[in-house]
Amino acid sequence: MKAALLLRVLSATSLLVNANAKSIDHQQPREDSLDDFIKDQQQISLQGMLNNIVDGVVVAGRSDPDYWFTWTRTAALTFKILIERLTRYDLEHYPNVSDDVTDYLKSQAKLQSGDLGEPKFYVNGTAFDGPWNRPQQDGPALRATALTLYARYLIGHAGDSVMAIDVHDHVVDKIWPIISKDLEHIIRCWNQTSFDIWEETNGSSFFTLSASHRALVEGMSLAKEIYLRCDGCAVTAPQILCFMNSFWDVDFMHANLNSKDQRRGIDASSILSSIHTYDPKAGCTDSSFQPCSPRALANHKAVIDSFRQLYAINHGIPQGQAVAVGRYPEDVSHGGNPWYTTTLAAAEQLYLARLQWQDRKEFTIDETSLPFFRDLLPTILPGTYRQSSDPAFFDLVLSAVQKYADGYMALIQRYTPTDGGLSEQFDRNNGVPVSASNFTWSHAAFYTAANRRIGIKGFPWSSWGEPSNNAFKLWQCHSHARVTFHVGS
Ligand code: NOJ
Ligand code: NOJ
Repeated sequence: MKAALLLRVLSATSLLVNANAKSIDHQQPREDSLDDFIKDQQQISLQGMLNNIVDGVVVAGRSDPDYWFTWTRTAALTFKILIERLTRYDLEHYPNVSDDVTDYLKSQAKLQSGDLGEPKFYVNGTAFDGPWNRPQQDGPALRATALTLYARYLIGHAGDSVMAIDVHDHVVDKIWPIISKDLEHIIRCWNQTSFDIWEETNGSSFFTLSASHRALVEGMSLAKEIYLRCDGCAVTAPQILCFMNSFWDVDFMHANLNSKDQRRGIDASSILSSIHTYDPKAGCTDSSFQPCSPRALANHKAVIDSFRQLYAINHGIPQGQAVAVGRYPEDVSHGGNPWYTTTLAAAEQLYLARLQWQDRKEFTIDETSLPFFRDLLPTILPGTYRQSSDPAFFDLVLSAVQKYADGYMALIQRYTPTDGGLSEQFDRNNGVPVSASNFTWSHAAFYTAANRRIGIKGFPWSSWGEPSNNAFKLWQCHSHARVTFHVGS
């Protein structure tokens, strides 16, 4: 164990004692280099996620407010990250991943016995029966995606071996029934209002729709791989994609439509959409809001700028440099603070964009994305820049983006307590951790952002709508998007 890590683990006990004191220690810049911090914190965050998984049930966190519950949304996002990693290098740090996924599978089958729009459950798997903002429809979509990734991993791993038939049967008998139940639910409910990712706004949520679109598209491909079909997926996915594109508003993506909230619509959940639906094969596609797409970059700027003046801890940080990011500017929960999850998402989108440009060996700046780039390089002009034509300039721009992304990680470093136990939020005035301690989602967000930083990609999910509607393009929306939206009371 590295000395810095050991030190942090040792100091955890003393930190617990001081947990309620607004200790100035929290605000001391971390002394290790950013690289060392990220390496150590990544292991702490992996362990932080695993500590919060009880027999496959992901609890949200461990303290005030009462987070000893499981949310379908955050459980699925956590397992998506763990499953992605399962296919990579980290097995020595996490040898039991398959057992955990198997337990997750079992626990989700139980959760699915009730209403799929129920967002929150007791740790024993029974639906929460207190008052809550329900239904929330992103959970089934996120779960379908996590399990589709897992099914594909198993199939890919078995290849043509003697195991292949058993794996096929396992996927068809045990995994597909859970996925298809979620997909059918999405097909039935996607155009009805529900509560958003923050469990506050009743309306049509961009995050929910984009997660639903992804789930249907990749569910359809998985069905094909196992010689089944999802006809409803093929019909509904383009309708959702068309509807998603009506959320765009000059330079940002509205978080919610058809809602009665009084917000402007700028919300970091749109950044979360772009990282969740990232497809390494998609290119910088606006329609599926890829991290490197002009719209997603403009939106990144709009969201970030909305927090620059809002939080005292951001004051004095110049344009073009990272600031602490909250959920949406009008947030008042716990006084309205930056969240670890959203600040890390701001970094992750940029790391992903950089990976996408690297893969394509070019990037394009258009009128939509120009202000984003101008914050970093004030004299840059619109155009397509190829690595082959000017490698030095290509590298300069990508490095500027990487440095900007690292700025978000450095803020996280600054506001992470010495034991690495990430909370839900940090105080807008002094950076002290706020709300649920060891919040699973914060650890998951750190873990995935750190992975992207070192170039670990996600899996393609045929975001173009392949295979069945291969040639689908947005201009076809006028015929596809006869969307009747059912606005709830
Ligand atoms: C209030 C928060 O604003 C909301 O997002 C959260 O889901 C609930 N508390 C429950 O913890
Ligand atoms: C509150 C957040 O608003 C919600 O999105 C999340 O699912 C729960 N906490 C649990 O982590």
